[in-house]
Amino acid sequence: MTNNNNQLNVGFIGTGAICSLIAKEIESGKVGKVHIIAVFDINLSSANNLVDQLKSEPSVYNSIENLVDNPQIDLIIECASPIAVEKNAEIVLKANKDILIMSSGALLDKKFFSRLKNISNKNNKKIYVPSGAVGAIDTIKSLKGIINEVTITTTKNPISLLGSLGFKKWEEKKITEKKLIFTGNANEAIKLFPANVNIAATISLSGIGAENTKVLVYADPNSKSNIHEVSIKSKAGNYKFTFENLPSKENPKTSYLAILSALQTIRKINGNFLEIGS
Ligand SMILES: NC(=O)c1ccc[n+]([C@@H]2O[C@H](COP(=O)([O-])OP(=O)(O)OC[C@H]3O[C@@H](n4cnc5c(N)ncnc54)[C@H](O)[C@@H]3O)[C@@H](O)[C@H]2O)c1
Repeated sequence: MTNNNNQLNVGFIGTGAICSLIAKEIESGKVGKVHIIAVFDINLSSANNLVDQLKSEPSVYNSIENLVDNPQIDLIIECASPIAVEKNAEIVLKANKDILIMSSGALLDKKFFSRLKNISNKNNKKIYVPSGAVGAIDTIKSLKGIINEVTITTTKNPISLLGSLGFKKWEEKKITEKKLIFTGNANEAIKLFPANVNIAATISLSGIGAENTKVLVYADPNSKSNIHEVSIKSKAGNYKFTFENLPSKENPKTSYLAILSALQTIRKINGNFLEIGS
């Protein structure tokens, strides 16, 4: 997906916590030959603030149309919100650019997903969804067709859950010990905790779908990390993975691993003679 100079030119939708860390790592050279061409954010001051800190002096655009109009850009990296994906992903693919999506919850809308699939196929463009704040995706993909059950148990400090619709009724109450605040499927979880359980969406998409993926969310005032336990039952065996993520300093809702996983996806897109993992 690189251009003739073997350089991957990227643009960003959303210039918050994830974008600023990805952008700084790109500029440090750790991701290979990647150049930041432009950024777009509905909050112009956030975009300007980030660009002021970057050496590559990307352009700041106030609309997605201007961003996709830039012929230099090969890949657009979404790190904004599920609404940003709904509004912009089709425009990006129609403009013949690949897209990397962090707000994977948006892809659970089946009609939207099928529209994106059609445009991607028609234009031969790709949608990349990093593993995010968990692993286990390679195992889940390898087990395609023979999975009986997937359960994701997420435990977060109440501070990391603040602002979510699903946590609203708990905000007034003092939580003094670990408490189960949600149980349901991934579809319901994403609606109630859109900023918190992107991993449920990513795992559903790689596995048995959102209706069949069970999600439990615990609020634990003693928890210093965002913990995701992924349990898989299949015809090939049963598997359990635990991820104890430290929140990123910039945004406690975002685990640092999610950012690292985006960087690894960019490295993968940018090409390597050896690809390990399924
Ligand atoms: N896949 C994963 O594992 C994973 C992990 C963590 C976060 N995320 C998701 O990544 C996204 C970004 O996270 P963050 O921590 O950087 O958030 P953030 O709040 O720090 O930054 C988001 C930025 O996007 C901008 N924005 C929001 N809606 C927009 C729109 N419609 N168009 C353009 N800009 C828009 C905001 O103004 C803000 O500057 C969130 O949706 C978050 O849920 C995914």
